Amino acid sequence: MDSIKIQRQWLKSNFDIVDSEDTDQGKKLPQPPIQKSYEEHEEIIDLPEVNKNVIKKNDVFDCFMDRKSNRVYKEEDISLEELSFLLWATQGVKKVVGKTNFATFRTVPSGGARHPFETYLVINRVEGLKKGVYRYLALEHKLVYLFNEEAMDEKVTEASEGQKFVASAPVTFIWSCIPYRTEWRYSVAAHKTILQDSGHLCQNLYLACEAIGCGTVAIGAYNQKAMDNFLKLDGENEFVIYVAPVGKIEAK
Ligand SMILES: Cc1cc2nc3c(=O)[nH]c(=O)nc-3n(C[C@H](O)[C@H](O)[C@H](O)COP(=O)(O)O)c2cc1C
Repeated sequence: MDSIKIQRQWLKSNFDIVDSEDTDQGKKLPQPPIQKSYEEHEEIIDLPEVNKNVIKKNDVFDCFMDRKSNRVYKEEDISLEELSFLLWATQGVKKVVGKTNFATFRTVPSGGARHPFETYLVINRVEGLKKGVYRYLALEHKLVYLFNEEAMDEKVTEASEGQKFVASAPVTFIWSCIPYRTEWRYSVAAHKTILQDSGHLCQNLYLACEAIGCGTVAIGAYNQKAMDNFLKLDGENEFVIYVAPVGKIEAK
């Protein structure tokens, strides 16, 4: 098989080769945590409760019609209320089920309700937040501050293959995936599901941005190693899967 044909296998369903008794879930191995942990001493930021008041464009037809990729953003800050809405729209938890936090139901669907993602934010201009890198705690609807470093813009630009608007945006969403959350249940059939799941995150971000006067663009062209290194991820058990800068845009 040539390499294109091999890669095409990714696009095909392979659930038929997975016997549910042979998966780690089937073998009754412990389920991985549904959210990456954090330490008590870390800086935790409360997000305002999600409020529909941030929505300017209520008509869902108009949101679909006007959605497009935006790479030019205004200098204006994004408010914490707006950021809270965007995070909720992309990963917000509506319900946790099971005595041992077996699954979450969120604003986006996910194969087997595994939700294998973590959301990192590179924040430049969000009202009330210092510049730096944060992670969304979806279960608590809070942020944990991670770090800031010199030459952050240069690092993000380099990791985005020179796409400067990624680093200069008021906030950039960087989604990582922890594949074992889905592999635990679906084994080798997990990987197509994870990619399908990731599209939901970004499409919800596009539509949520459209509703509040912001714009975004899906970024698939990033340097895997550089982006993983930037976020201090091991690149094996957790790695970046998708990127999306966000900012206010000129009214149409
Ligand atoms: C998976 C994916 C990866 C993409 N990667 C990039 C990218 O790295 N840089 C970029 O400027 N646009 C990127 N885009 C945006 C596309 O160029 C854009 O969606 C396409 O041109 C259609 O335009 P529209 O979104 O305005 O309808 C990507 C879109 C998708 C769905």
